[in-house]
Amino acid sequence: MELKQPEAIIGTNSWGSKAYGTLLRGSGVDEATLRETMSCAINHDLKIFDVAKDYGFGKAQKLLGSFGSSNCIISAKFTPSTSYQPGQVRTSLIQDLNDIQRDYVDIYWLHLPSDLKENLREMAELYREGKIRLIGVSNFNLEECIQAAEILAEQEIPLYGVQNHYSLIARRWEQEGLVDWCHENDVSFWAWAVLEEGILTDPRVKTPSSIMKVLFQRKKTTLLPLYDLMRRIGEHHGLNIPEVAISYCSSKGIVPICGCRKPYQVEALVKAVHTTLSELELQQLEQEADRLQVTVLGADMFRFAVRKKGKE
Ligand SMILES: NC(=O)c1ccc[n+]([C@@H]2O[C@H](COP(=O)([O-])OP(=O)(O)OC[C@H]3O[C@@H](n4cnc5c(N)ncnc54)[C@H](OP(=O)(O)O)[C@@H]3O)[C@@H](O)[C@H]2O)c1
Repeated sequence: MELKQPEAIIGTNSWGSKAYGTLLRGSGVDEATLRETMSCAINHDLKIFDVAKDYGFGKAQKLLGSFGSSNCIISAKFTPSTSYQPGQVRTSLIQDLNDIQRDYVDIYWLHLPSDLKENLREMAELYREGKIRLIGVSNFNLEECIQAAEILAEQEIPLYGVQNHYSLIARRWEQEGLVDWCHENDVSFWAWAVLEEGILTDPRVKTPSSIMKVLFQRKKTTLLPLYDLMRRIGEHHGLNIPEVAISYCSSKGIVPICGCRKPYQVEALVKAVHTTLSELELQQLEQEADRLQVTVLGADMFRFAVRKKGKE
């Protein structure tokens, strides 16, 4: 398993809580299915599971721990939420390790660019103690990533990666030069919500009603011509619409994190990342997506909570 440029990551946002699954996604998934999903991913050598304390209403990482994570690679996060308190990263990591039932995490992400120096220095200390193997940042803009890399460089620690919102219809970080900066500086770029939480799936496939479905209805109608194009391009490669959305990212050297909670979704992810779309196909997809101008919130949902020095 290549950690610098993994093929794909299994997202666990909707693992663990039937209430979360039912409310947001229209249906809950039982533990047996999640176990199967996990085994299916590991059998396909997709061993990186992306977790955070609050995923699945706090149950996702506990569940992963209870399944046994010794043969997994764990990507976990510290989410700064209040004004900086010394020791806050350590306290949070200890809880995560308890949940996951491990004595280290492979990759630990600073989830938001708050109190950069303080939080990253604590992460550096935990790195030196072996409790964190790699350090990444999430929901950072280019300027913040450069700053983070400099803070870590002072501690002689490389910045492993950036985990940001990115999909065929949300390419802000590419347009602002962050993706290129990552590629030029040997920093891995992981994309969350490559399926836009269900927007980039086939509108003809019937799914149970849910909050997401109601919220996305108008956007899905606007995107009908894009789905047509994705279907046509997909036919050349034996991919369906969500698989084209995933392959769009991996074909550009971006690591897709996909919310998989059923084995078929892991199989689809594997198929998608093993297919490379041509330059022309990528351009056609981007042109159509740009023409339709559908906007999605992405990281703006959380970045309002970013604490800047001097603005307390
Ligand atoms: N760093 C951050 O701030 C941040 C923020 C958000 C998310 N994330 C990470 O990114 C991961 C992915 O985000 P997400 O789970 O919210 O959204 P997502 O991966 O964009 O979409 C998940 C949705 O796509 C559906 N789906 C998955 N595979 C499919 C397939 N092959 N065919 C058709 N539909 C498919 C799922 O269906 P079902 O409902 O049927 O399962 C679910 O509704 C999260 O799990 C989390 O690990 C990170």
